[in-house]
Amino acid sequence: MIKQIEETTSYLQNKGFENPEIGIILGTGLGQLLNEIEIITEASYNHIPNFPTATVELHKGKLIYGILEGKKVVVMQGRFHVYEGYTLQDVTYPVRIMEKLGIKTLLVSNAAGAINLNFKKGELMLIEDHINLQGSSPLAFKGVELLGERFTDMSAPYNAEINTKFKAIAKANNITLHEGVYASVVGPQLETRAEYRMLKIMGADAVGMSTVPEIIVANHLNLKVAAVSVLTDECDPNNLKPVNIAEIIEMAAKAEPNMITLFKELIKSL
Ligand code: HPA
Repeated sequence: MIKQIEETTSYLQNKGFENPEIGIILGTGLGQLLNEIEIITEASYNHIPNFPTATVELHKGKLIYGILEGKKVVVMQGRFHVYEGYTLQDVTYPVRIMEKLGIKTLLVSNAAGAINLNFKKGELMLIEDHINLQGSSPLAFKGVELLGERFTDMSAPYNAEINTKFKAIAKANNITLHEGVYASVVGPQLETRAEYRMLKIMGADAVGMSTVPEIIVANHLNLKVAAVSVLTDECDPNNLKPVNIAEIIEMAAKAEPNMITLFKELIKSL
């Protein structure tokens, strides 16, 4: 993997991805952040050597380099999911590349279902800890020890300083920002009522199908990380309605301005 990482990184450096400080993974509910970035250069996933081959859905996926709030950022527009058929190593390969390009901080957003029923759809949740239910680890491969500590510490995977800043920004801007535990499942099917009950008993406040693999690799690489979920549906096992994807997307869009404020103000403060 080391040779591939070097090849991918030099391709991007030759395209002008110069010393970004911060990496951002734009999930559902943060796409419009791109409008705030002064774009310097970009590369389609399809053209980047050794990047996972993009699916139809991801054909417009790209890596973007530019300036946001005075900081050099590299942004993933579109992420890879295990439910699309990628391996955990594929899903997290871009994190290894962003680190090699120079980032010290990784910021992630996603959409999630609220398991904690005190949290309402359309609200945001700062991820304070997580439960990996992906069935494996992105670090479970031969040679991982050449890229970082195999037995990566997970006692504090989310950066406390950044989270304190996020909370202060939310308060100053009258944004409801819950804090909680995010459980990451494979999907793509939604959960059964019994699974929602299980997740609650396990201590999850929210559930989604992404983010944890990237956070594990970011910790493997000693990056500072933080992640925010937009809660798009309320997962009440005693009153569960059929999933409504249109409503999930609508909720994510509704919360987007708040998510953008949080990310912009945070980046300004870093
Ligand atoms: N489950 C899993 N992933 C999700 C959900 C959910 O309820 N809502 C949004 N992403």
